Amino acid sequence: MSKKTIKDVDLKNKTVLIRVDFNVPMKDGKIIDDNRIVQALPTIRYVLDQNARIVLFSHLGRIKSEEDKRKNSLRPVAERLSELLERPVAFVDETRGAKLENAIKNMKEKDIIVVENTRFEDLNNKAESGNDPELGKYWASLGEVFVNDAFGTAHRAHASNVGIASNSKVAVAGFLLEKEIKFIGEAVDNPRRPFYAILGGAKVSDKISVIENLLTKADKILICGAMAYTFFKALGYEIGTSKCEPDYVDYAKSLLDKGKGKIILPIDNVVTNEFSEDAEAVTVNSNEIPADMMGMDIGPQTIELFRKELSDAKTVVWNGPAGVFEFDQFANGTKEICKIIAGLQDAITIVGGGDSAAAAIGMGFEKNFTHISTGGGASLELLEGKELPGIAAIDDKCCCCCD
Ligand code: 3PG
Repeated sequence: MSKKTIKDVDLKNKTVLIRVDFNVPMKDGKIIDDNRIVQALPTIRYVLDQNARIVLFSHLGRIKSEEDKRKNSLRPVAERLSELLERPVAFVDETRGAKLENAIKNMKEKDIIVVENTRFEDLNNKAESGNDPELGKYWASLGEVFVNDAFGTAHRAHASNVGIASNSKVAVAGFLLEKEIKFIGEAVDNPRRPFYAILGGAKVSDKISVIENLLTKADKILICGAMAYTFFKALGYEIGTSKCEPDYVDYAKSLLDKGKGKIILPIDNVVTNEFSEDAEAVTVNSNEIPADMMGMDIGPQTIELFRKELSDAKTVVWNGPAGVFEFDQFANGTKEICKIIAGLQDAITIVGGGDSAAAAIGMGFEKNFTHISTGGGASLELLEGKELPGIAAIDDKCCCCCD
């Protein structure tokens, strides 16, 4: 990797500011999925082993009101982190000021502080999301080294990632960020071939830049999920009441032309006459969707087609579910894709965050992929080939004189 990591710098006995992405799903003040906290542990443990003092920054949710603040405190996250590390973790319920400064001043070796949700600063003229220069400078002044391990937030240019990095003498990547860049970045830029991408999810419009970029890099792109129906429409098929983006039909057609056979579409679909969990379902060919029915999942022939197409894969990147996997009856396509990928021998297999990552983990395939990304929007932007501001702001490795 061309960026410095925590292994490249001296952290011994320093005060180390770490930006993590602890934006975890919460319900009634309780954490539903702690994966992002678990994924940050290797970096935190490594920094602890250097006898450093650790100050953790993260956002949680989006903050537009006092009520949002009440619901999105990082206190439960600090408590969960303490359980996972089996050591005390202090929580400071402020994002700036004397209380925070004194808490940091009084830290001893291996102490850990979690600072309150950085986005509480958004009620102050969007200081965090707007990357207010004073705020980034202030936070940077609280420590000696900045470690960015928040891959999920790397597509944002906020005060707590870009702001701190640009005001810190030393700004390096943590292990999670390094891992995400290695797997997603290298899969796209320098893949072992054949390299296949599976793209699902609801909208073509969300994935335009990803498809454009992958058409130049992947050997094939397998399309599934609701966005397939916009492609069917482009081919002139009847799609019934299936989801479709009429404004993107011409665009989908141009992608099919440009792809020259690289784009593989589903050949059959599970359809229903209403969007509900227990609707009566039938399977039909892609060009035979009845006018009063909607597609909910890919069908068995498509699963076999995908299995065949993927059989010689050396790299697979998957982003977006194959159907309405939240409803058991329509989760089969997504589950079978997990199984096909899990069964590939000698292939690098990557799930690119968001719904597909949640599906892979929820369906029990967590251990069967080479890498499951912690980033939703960030992993998509990396697949688009974009430079992410959170990564760009980290110090470059120099060619010959790095320590
Ligand atoms: C995510 O969950 O994708 C990241 O934490 C970024 O959150 P945001 O979309 O609210 O910036």
